[in-house]
Amino acid sequence: MKPSIVYWTGSGNTQIIAEAIQEAIEDLGMQCESNYVSDVTADDVKDSDIFFLGCPSMSGEAVEEYEFRPFLDDLLPHVAGKKVVLFGSYDWGDGEWMVSWNQEMIDSGAEVLDRYQIQWEPNDEQLANVKEKVTSYFKM
Ligand SMILES: Cc1cc2nc3c(=O)[nH]c(=O)nc-3n(C[C@H](O)[C@H](O)[C@H](O)COP(=O)(O)O)c2cc1C
Repeated sequence: MKPSIVYWTGSGNTQIIAEAIQEAIEDLGMQCESNYVSDVTADDVKDSDIFFLGCPSMSGEAVEEYEFRPFLDDLLPHVAGKKVVLFGSYDWGDGEWMVSWNQEMIDSGAEVLDRYQIQWEPNDEQLANVKEKVTSYFKM
C-alpha cells in the first residue's frame, strides 16, 4: 500500500499526530513523507492507496477553510475505493467537524478506516495508540 500523509496545523497539535503516523509507517520499513497541506497538491498524492488526512476543528466545527478545504475539494474526486484515516486536534467542541468530514469522505466513495480526534496536544499514550493503529492497517 502506498501511503500519503497531508495535514494542516495552526499551533502544532495536528502536526504531532502526523509525525507519529509517519514514524509508525517508517518503522515498518516504508518511506512516507508527512506533508504540510500547502506543500503538496491533490495531484501529487492522488495515486496513493491510503490517505492520512489531518486537520483540527476550526471556526464553526469545520476543516480549515483557506488551505485545507481547497486541497480536500481537489482530492475528493480521487478517493473513491481508497482507504482513508482522518485525524486532528480540537478544543471546546464535541468533535462535530470530524463527523461531517467523515461523511464527506464516505459520500465520495472512500473507505474511512479510522478517525483520531484528540483534544488539545496529544499525550504519549494517545500517540502510542495512533502508532499501533497505523501499524495494524499495513498488516491487514
Ligand atoms: C480560529 C480557530 C477556530 C477554532 N474553532 C474550533 C471549533 O469550532 N471547535 C473546537 O473544538 N475547537 C476549535 N478551535 C480549537 C482548535 O481546534 C484547537 O486549538 C486545536 O488543538 C488546534 O490544533 P492545531 O494545533 O493542530 O492547530 C479553534 C481554534 C482556532 C484558532
